Amino acid sequence: MKSEPWWKEAVVYQIYPRSFFDSNGDGEGDLNGITAKLDYVKNLGVDAIWLSPFYTSPNKDGGYDVADPRDVDPRFGDLADAKALIARAHELKLRVIADIVPNHFSDQHEWFQAALKSGPGSAERNRFHFYDGNPDGTPPNNWISLFGGPSWTQVPDGQFYLHLFDSSQPDLNWDNPEVHADFEKTLRFWLDLGIDGFRIDVAHGLVKENIHKNHPNPQGLSDALRLDVEMDTEERNALLVSVPFFDRQGVHEIYRQWRKLFDSYKGREVMAVAEAWVHPPENATRYVRSDELQQVFNFDLLTAPFDGEFLFDVINRSIQLNSSVGALPTWALSNHDSPRVATRIGDSESRALALFVFALPGSAYVFAGQELGLPDGELQDTDRQDPSFIRSKGRVKGRDGARVPLPWNGDTTPFGFTTGKPWLPLNQSWQKLTVENEKADPQSSLNLFREALALRAEHLVNKGDVQWLESPLHGAKRKDLLVFKRGAVTVAMNLSELAQEVSIEGQVIMLSAGSLDSNSGKKLIPARSCIWSLN
Ligand code: NOJ
Repeated sequence: MKSEPWWKEAVVYQIYPRSFFDSNGDGEGDLNGITAKLDYVKNLGVDAIWLSPFYTSPNKDGGYDVADPRDVDPRFGDLADAKALIARAHELKLRVIADIVPNHFSDQHEWFQAALKSGPGSAERNRFHFYDGNPDGTPPNNWISLFGGPSWTQVPDGQFYLHLFDSSQPDLNWDNPEVHADFEKTLRFWLDLGIDGFRIDVAHGLVKENIHKNHPNPQGLSDALRLDVEMDTEERNALLVSVPFFDRQGVHEIYRQWRKLFDSYKGREVMAVAEAWVHPPENATRYVRSDELQQVFNFDLLTAPFDGEFLFDVINRSIQLNSSVGALPTWALSNHDSPRVATRIGDSESRALALFVFALPGSAYVFAGQELGLPDGELQDTDRQDPSFIRSKGRVKGRDGARVPLPWNGDTTPFGFTTGKPWLPLNQSWQKLTVENEKADPQSSLNLFREALALRAEHLVNKGDVQWLESPLHGAKRKDLLVFKRGAVTVAMNLSELAQEVSIEGQVIMLSAGSLDSNSGKKLIPARSCIWSLN
């Protein structure tokens, strides 16, 4: 029997290197810290790690401002440390996915420094989007930075450059073949070092159209663009649909080229997952057509309420849309850009939802700390470092809460994360949530994740489609109950405040909260919980 590619139903553990584990006492996590904790990661039962950027960077945007994409920032170590990390991961049979940031460089990248020194119209400026302003001195258009404020900054000779994010992140000009060649060099560099795949940052943003055209309704768009501003999904989608710098057809040509490059690494099963915030949702499937990328993030669950109808709709739609191009969905409840799921929907709810999505077809992404049930860190404004906090002058609190370092052991903060001063303070209230404490507690979120991932590997991976047994598709008998069968496992999630009785055959092998007496026939599922039952 032909085996499936490794990434197809992989569980991928996202590590934000700065916040994972500090091996040298400088208060920031590093590559050697990750290597030191890979046994812990392996024991979770995941298949791969995704590393957020660790490249040379002034770190104005948590490393998503890359000054040299083919080197390691000294704060994280060096290339030898990267090699050692990859080697140890592979020894443990963990794949390694690296972030790649093709929409922009840091203003400290040598190309941008050269562009500043060279005049308007130069080849150096043509690697970015440099334009003259309007006759009245205003920027070339009214586009807005995703971090707030205008997306243009003026240089001393009067020209403006485009930056969809911070002014320290100039956007690259993908009409320039030099940009293509440089990224292909970077992809090869990391593949040659042993990397197994890439997470493509702002994958939908590389190609810009109509630079001279203003965007209608810049005010509404300003909020819609921000990842951390809550907004009705439909309203957000309606605003995003006409953005001239997102989801242009040209991006797909780039990924077709990249796919050829990936496939030239014979026998390696190189993969890439696109970060693409696009509308309508059908458009996301274009990124995973058979000659493009392997996965595209589905962000629906990052903002979804704990509501049966809502969850059913977004989950069912994602399965169907992906299947229309022969792909499987991805699921993520948390990442470094959004509030942690335990904070957003609650502790029991986040456990229930994790169990539910682990049983679905496709790949599940787990943000480091999610397995502990970690909430967002409570920060003072003086602690905050996110450029969206700085550029919005504090109006937007930003994403630092989800990036507070992990608590490993001990009774007092910083809970073994560092012997120095952590770059963001850990909360003393996390004492019970350390890895050490959770390992020892059979009821902990950590042990729930471990058991669930072991059982997922045994009973759910590559077990085909979902068969809905109770859902709005079936007349929504009970709005607060979702039940599906996949392979030999029946999965039931009770979203209500009360326990609910459900008829399910088999033996309960997982329960996200509380306890359950019956092992056959009718089962009383505790409030806000999820069970797996094996036939
Ligand atoms: C998306 C990344 O996930 C986020 O952290 C970053 O700020 C932006 N892209 C810009 O690179």
